[in-house]
Amino acid sequence: MRSNDEMKLGLYLVQTGYHEGAWRDPSAPPNGGIDIDHYVHLAALAEGAAFHFVFFADTPSVVERDNASIARAGRNDGFEPITLLSALSSRTQNIGLVATATTTYQQPYHLARMLASLDHLSRGRAAWNIVTSGFKSEAPNFGYKELPDHDTRYARAREFVEVVKGLWDSWEDGAFIRDKQSGIFADTSKLHLLNHRGDYLSVRGPLNTARPPQGYPVLVQAGASEAGIAFASELGEVVFTAEPSLENGKRYYATLKDKARALGREDDQVLVMPGIVPIVGRTKQEALEKLQRLQSYTHIDLQIETADRWLGFVTDLHSINLDSLVPAALPQTNLIQSRQKVLLDLAARQKFTWRQLIRFISDSKGHLIVVGTPDEIANAMVDTFDERAADGFNVLPATVPGGLRDFVELVVPELRRRGKFRSRYSGRTLRENLGLKRPINRFTQTDVSGRP
Ligand SMILES: Cc1cc2nc3c(=O)[nH]c(=O)nc-3n(C[C@H](O)[C@H](O)[C@H](O)COP(=O)(O)O)c2cc1C
Repeated sequence: MRSNDEMKLGLYLVQTGYHEGAWRDPSAPPNGGIDIDHYVHLAALAEGAAFHFVFFADTPSVVERDNASIARAGRNDGFEPITLLSALSSRTQNIGLVATATTTYQQPYHLARMLASLDHLSRGRAAWNIVTSGFKSEAPNFGYKELPDHDTRYARAREFVEVVKGLWDSWEDGAFIRDKQSGIFADTSKLHLLNHRGDYLSVRGPLNTARPPQGYPVLVQAGASEAGIAFASELGEVVFTAEPSLENGKRYYATLKDKARALGREDDQVLVMPGIVPIVGRTKQEALEKLQRLQSYTHIDLQIETADRWLGFVTDLHSINLDSLVPAALPQTNLIQSRQKVLLDLAARQKFTWRQLIRFISDSKGHLIVVGTPDEIANAMVDTFDERAADGFNVLPATVPGGLRDFVELVVPELRRRGKFRSRYSGRTLRENLGLKRPINRFTQTDVSGRP
């Protein structure tokens, strides 16, 4: 038994749904991507079901390469994550707010301030999904000709996170005494200069924001290549992954926990949360029909463009015989290496043709997809959880709000019946709700805040 035998649940907030065809579904508000009320509604559904967090992904670019694909993609009208989650912080009470931000193109001082602000605004519900950016389309938006290479991105990420944590520690807890009588606002014996000079970054500090309520917002990572797993095991408190196979998922889980343990980290301080795309029907047939309808909304050219991207742009799928078998290997990519491997492993196991693989990527981007009744979906989740391939799930509804409502109304009660999911929040901050410890300021011997 784990110390807490209940799974964690996060909602992957996405414009009109995770499926490429979602925006054309009659139930989806086509302008959902830029409608704050839509997101408030989604967050309320997740919060009403006691989800641990909502998560907002980000790629700061238009990722499709040609106008024909751009014309059909329903995602290029969206919000920037920290801005959206700041707005949601004032329209929610308990749910965690996970914002994606890249270490490849951001500046740590800016980002440390923004995330600290989000943690203060939400009274301790912020988290940072630390990404290294794996799409080519982003580099030219930040003055780079090419995406920096994979190892360089991770090396900069490691230094970047250390700097951000150092900035969050600029002020010890309790440094702002705000004593009107004496006229002393801040106790400068509790102020610390970072003075960082490293290979990639040079940051003096201190931060002009009080230490975040959680000490540090929760650190989320999704590295899955060798370099990525090493990075995630060092600092990921929540680790996202895409893994459609139970066996490989168990291997990933064990590898990550072993590596984290070897670094002195406790098992329950590293939570592995793979994605799941649930397509819920009251009968299996109804669920299958929902998926088929979504597939019919997705033009083959957009499916091919999406597949090309997730395979790392190493082959021209437009000129391939779609009914031929997917080969066992493709050239290595400098983009997202691990996802290519996950997809090729699956194709080999299932003996997929290109057409089948392309459709699978369009449906789930490589995540586990379960199409079935609430009972079947709950069973798949509980098996993955009990078999130690997950501490919880990032739920990626194919459509929102419809698919999310189905999950909340039909699957969550099944999870509760099996004793695997809670019905209310246990803590105040996201750390408390996830059972994660509050980091002690590096400059303080003991945590003076009195918080756990
Ligand atoms: C659930 C999930 C969400 C992710 N969200 C983002 C994102 O918003 N932006 C991004 O650039 N990468 C995102 N990624 C990609 C990861 O940050 C990482 O690049 C990927 O898992 C591959 O790791 P690797 O580079 O070690 O192969 C996400 C990955 C997963 C599994």
